[in-house]
Parts: sequence; structure tokens; C-alpha cells
Amino acid sequence: MIRLFVALELPEGVRERLGMLQGGVPGARWVDDHQLHLTLRFIGEVTEDVGHDIDDALLSIHAPGFELELAGVGEFGGKNPRALWAGVRANGALLHLQKKVETALQRIGLEAETRKFSPHVTLARLRGAPREKVVQFLSEYSLFASGPFRVERFVLFSSHQGSGGSVYHAERTYPLTA
Ligand code: 2AM
Repeated sequence: MIRLFVALELPEGVRERLGMLQGGVPGARWVDDHQLHLTLRFIGEVTEDVGHDIDDALLSIHAPGFELELAGVGEFGGKNPRALWAGVRANGALLHLQKKVETALQRIGLEAETRKFSPHVTLARLRGAPREKVVQFLSEYSLFASGPFRVERFVLFSSHQGSGGSVYHAERTYPLTA
């Protein structure tokens, strides 16, 4: 079995800028800046055969490249925050691509994703982080913006358990060409 997800990579400069936000919250496990990504579709554990079907399905996707910008920060979990993330400036082309990925995966028999797509880049996973530190982080970086960058491909990643948390490996890349 292999654990897979579909995501966008981030340019090195953007990852470095995100890396500069990472600090000041006790109980945060910050995502290594080489591993920062934007998930389009989580798949989960599949057999190698299904992995091949997924690769074929993703290869069939035709969509144009586009500009993307990360903006703002947020948290998941409310009263008990479990993650900190950077947001994405509203982007029709991103939603279009995400829908194409979803449709392609359903066509080969994967269960529909029931969660609404809320694009984000997870910066940290939290355990027992003091609420006030989270609030401080959110206000300190509310105006964060990465500047626009081009997205020219998307990626099928595998996820493996390393000693310091999950490690992601790009299995296949798919160019975005109109
Ligand atoms: P996250 O960034 O919001 O944590 C690899 O694990 C990627 O898939 C991560 O970006 C993670 O999203 C997402 N992911 C992990 N487990 C998931 C699940 N059970 N459902 C949806 N997305 C998941």
C-alpha cells in the first residue's frame, strides 16, 4: 500500500518566506520548509495497481498554467487549534484544476471527496498551543502575502512516516498546458 495525495509545489522563494513565519508558538510542530505544499486532493492508502490508475487519470488532465498567490494566515480547530496555515488569494484557475482532479479520480472509481476544498498551506500542527500565542500569530501575519508566482505543473506525492513526522516524495509530475 502507498499513501498518496495530489498537490502543488511551492517555489523555493515562497517556501523560504513561509519559513520566516514559523516560530513563536509553543507546542507547534512546524512543517519543514522543503515539505510545504498546497494539497489539491488527499487520496490515502491505495494499492500499487490503483496507484497506476491514478497516474493514468492524472495524465489525462488538460488545464492551463496559472498565477497563484498565498495571502493571510489562519487556523483549523477553533478553541483547540490543531493547525496553522497560510491562505490562498481567491483563484478560479486553482478551483478549476482541483475540480478536474476530483472528476478524474472519481472516474476511476475513487470515493468522492466529501470535504469542501479550502486551499491552504499547512505551516504547523499544534498540540496544546496556548490560545493567546495562536491569536498573536494570526494577527502578526494577517497581512502576509507571498507575491504571485506561476504554477506550471501539479504533482502526485507519496507520504511516508519519518522519525520527525511525515515525509513527502514527488512520485509523478503533470504539466499544465492549455
Ligand atoms: P493538511 O495540510 O491540511 O494537513 C499530506 O498528508 C497532505 O494531505 C497534507 O497536506 C494534509 O492536509 C492532507 N491530508 C492528510 N490527511 C488527510 C485526510 N485524512 N483528509 C484530507 N486531507 C488530508
